[in-house]
Amino acid sequence: MGIVLFFFFLFPPLCAAQNCPISFCGNRSIPVRFPFSLQGNQLENCGYPGFELGCNSQGTTVLNLPYSGEFLVRNINYFTQEINLYDPGKCLPKRLLSFNLSGSPFSASYYQNYTFLSCPTQAVISRFSTIGCLSNSTNSVLATSSMNLVKSMPPSCHIIVTLPVPVSFWFAYNEEFSTALDQDIQLTWYTPDCGGCEAIGGVCGFKNNSNQAIGCFFNRSSGRSSSNIGYQVFRIGCLTFAILGASFAVGMIVIASSARRSHRLGAHSTQGNSNLSTVAERSTTIAVGMDDSTIESYQKVVLGESQGLPGPNGSTCSICLSEYQSKETLRCIPKCQHCFHAGCIDEWLRRNSTCPLCRNSPSPALVSLHIV
Ligand SMILES: *[C@@H]1O[C@H](CO)[C@@H](O)[C@H](O)[C@H]1NC(C)=O
Ligand SMILES: *[C@@H]1O[C@H](CO)[C@@H](O)[C@H](O)[C@H]1NC(C)=O
Ligand SMILES: *[C@@H]1O[C@H](CO)[C@@H](O)[C@H](O)[C@H]1NC(C)=O
Ligand SMILES: *[C@@H]1O[C@H](CO)[C@@H](O)[C@H](O)[C@H]1NC(C)=O
Ligand SMILES: *[C@@H]1O[C@H](CO)[C@@H](O)[C@H](O)[C@H]1NC(C)=O
Ligand SMILES: *[C@@H]1O[C@H](CO)[C@@H](O)[C@H](O)[C@H]1NC(C)=O
Repeated sequence: MGIVLFFFFLFPPLCAAQNCPISFCGNRSIPVRFPFSLQGNQLENCGYPGFELGCNSQGTTVLNLPYSGEFLVRNINYFTQEINLYDPGKCLPKRLLSFNLSGSPFSASYYQNYTFLSCPTQAVISRFSTIGCLSNSTNSVLATSSMNLVKSMPPSCHIIVTLPVPVSFWFAYNEEFSTALDQDIQLTWYTPDCGGCEAIGGVCGFKNNSNQAIGCFFNRSSGRSSSNIGYQVFRIGCLTFAILGASFAVGMIVIASSARRSHRLGAHSTQGNSNLSTVAERSTTIAVGMDDSTIESYQKVVLGESQGLPGPNGSTCSICLSEYQSKETLRCIPKCQHCFHAGCIDEWLRRNSTCPLCRNSPSPALVSLHIV
């Protein structure tokens, strides 16, 4: 354990952003960093507009949606760009009745139309799941996505409303009254797009205080611009450490969890521990990649002075978010023809078997899976 903590004290600070330190609310359960920022706790320009979080008096992280009010944050996945929310009043269905994401950068992963019904309690068969927090002794409230089920209900029931509800999964055939509405709301965001940067161990941030262009940073105090050579070298070193760190952490977690660590760590170690779980989470999401020979078989392109890129490609690499320069080597994914810096895409493909842009698998038959 000592070695792990040493490792984490040594390396993350080396690669972490200095200008915008990670912040936490009292419970320290959710690391808050770009594109999120903690109001009143972080410096200006540490977060993207609309991504401000707060802390409530219980030390829990809070997101305020302009038209839907306050939700508590269960967790944030910076890599998949998802945030899970729950209701402080413990009655999510009630919040869903007036849920509106206007004015926020978030959107639901999926929507499904749900019909809310109000029935006299004695008319409701006991096997139906009712929404407890909206029901009382005389009236029961139920919700379903099935119109057939709605039509089969006795006439003493009336429809309160039918509306699209944000869901994490879309149930095509659901002939039940739902209990799923009690679960967290999962929202996602598309801008700023930092998933590729996160995947190669970087942290996104603003490139420039005066506009909203974002870059991928490994040490923000040295790397304001990603085009100088020193920074590139530093970056490679940083990346190597990050990968070593991640594999090391996973190894140690496996050992640690099999050893059933039962004693609590002290205050200092708690921080190491939370770093550790962040890295572990990241590396478990991205642990399945391709082998080097498959990656090497994909076409490489060296950029000429004014040569356009092949296929449907812009002028920036969507993994490291920096612009292509002449003489740089790119690698393109067969099938979708999306190209990236060879260094970036190689790193990505070692840990993911899909294109970072379109998420299609280049050639499923050729993919050989291995766990990092
Ligand atoms: C980032 O790099 C600069 C200059 O290279 C260095 O002075 C600074 O200590 C580094 N930051 C961290 C957190 O290592
Ligand atoms: C945060 O800590 C407070 C006590 O300090 C506790 O009551 C609360 O349940 C905790 N919240 C979470 C989400 O762990
Ligand atoms: C959400 O709120 C905005 C602003 O009040 C309004 O224009 C919009 O129609 C609402 N959307 C829904 C689905 O109610
Ligand atoms: C929900 O219902 C509305 C209006 O009936 C319809 O336009 C919309 O396509 C439906 N959405 C889904 C996801 O089924
Ligand atoms: C139960 O709820 C309904 C509507 O939600 C309300 O009209 C009724 O007065 C309530 N009954 C009791 C006993 O609270
Ligand atoms: C920041 O962006 C502005 C315009 O958006 C530009 O004029 C300025 O030179 C940039 N500064 C740096 C340090 O890149």
